[in-house]
Amino acid sequence: MKVLGILGSHRRDGVTAKLVDAVLQGVDPANKTEIIYLEDYDFKPDTYERKDPVLDELEGKLLESDVWIIAAPTYWRSLAGKMKDFFDCLRQRLVRFDKQGETHPDRFKNKHYLSITDCYTGTFENWVTGVTDQSLRTIDQVMSAAGVIKVNEIVMTNTWGIQELPAAKKSECLKRGQQLSSVQKRDDSTVKRYIQLFFMVAIMALAAMGIQVGLGLFPKTHFWLSYSSFVVIFFALLAGILHFATYVKHRRK
Ligand SMILES: Cc1cc2nc3c(=O)[nH]c(=O)nc-3n(C[C@H](O)[C@H](O)[C@H](O)COP(=O)(O)O)c2cc1C
Repeated sequence: MKVLGILGSHRRDGVTAKLVDAVLQGVDPANKTEIIYLEDYDFKPDTYERKDPVLDELEGKLLESDVWIIAAPTYWRSLAGKMKDFFDCLRQRLVRFDKQGETHPDRFKNKHYLSITDCYTGTFENWVTGVTDQSLRTIDQVMSAAGVIKVNEIVMTNTWGIQELPAAKKSECLKRGQQLSSVQKRDDSTVKRYIQLFFMVAIMALAAMGIQVGLGLFPKTHFWLSYSSFVVIFFALLAGILHFATYVKHRRK
């Protein structure tokens, strides 16, 4: 497996670079790693007459990697421009267009990514106002269009004057790096986990409602209809909130 760090910051050795470095340090040494600094690449959009050779090179690196670490600071409450420009220039290659101009995942489908962003804003203010949300959302939108699967995200706040990563943030990055080696295995078990969750809900609801009937707190008429509708509705709500908490809602610290 190969893990590719893509750094889209103004600073080659800034906070964002340190976060990527720490994640890569955590990656199992049996895997290959590489980091590219987008400022080193003078890419331009493809034209009808000419495909951009710098984009060719970058596209090759993306294709040969299994996991991408997409790391860019939050500038003006949004994704840093160099990373956004990279996504914009790469659009024609990231997705396939049908006859109606709709986009579809193409050659990058089922690769994985971890997103990283950071900002000066304090943890509490970011938690309340979501300064870093738009940066993460932009990354997610592009990756989702390309069919690339999200593994996790890392957010660092309070970056003003930071020279070294705080110990807790460094260990979070190392842990995320270690987890990258098992991303393929985790995808395969997601459906299995939801099926397990359904049966857990069904068994617990049967036990709870059975006890209620035994205690005379629940009517016996239409028991199975009440029971099955409760299981289905409760499972749908629980699965929805779990999906929101683990995938949709962005980290803010
Ligand atoms: C052009 C620019 C715009 C920025 N805008 C914001 C912002 O809107 N909110 C914020 O909290 N920090 C903002 N920052 C601070 C950066 O997000 C912060 O310094 C980040 O940690 C820089 O990462 P780096 O060390 O990799 O360059 C901005 C920095 C720059 C250079």
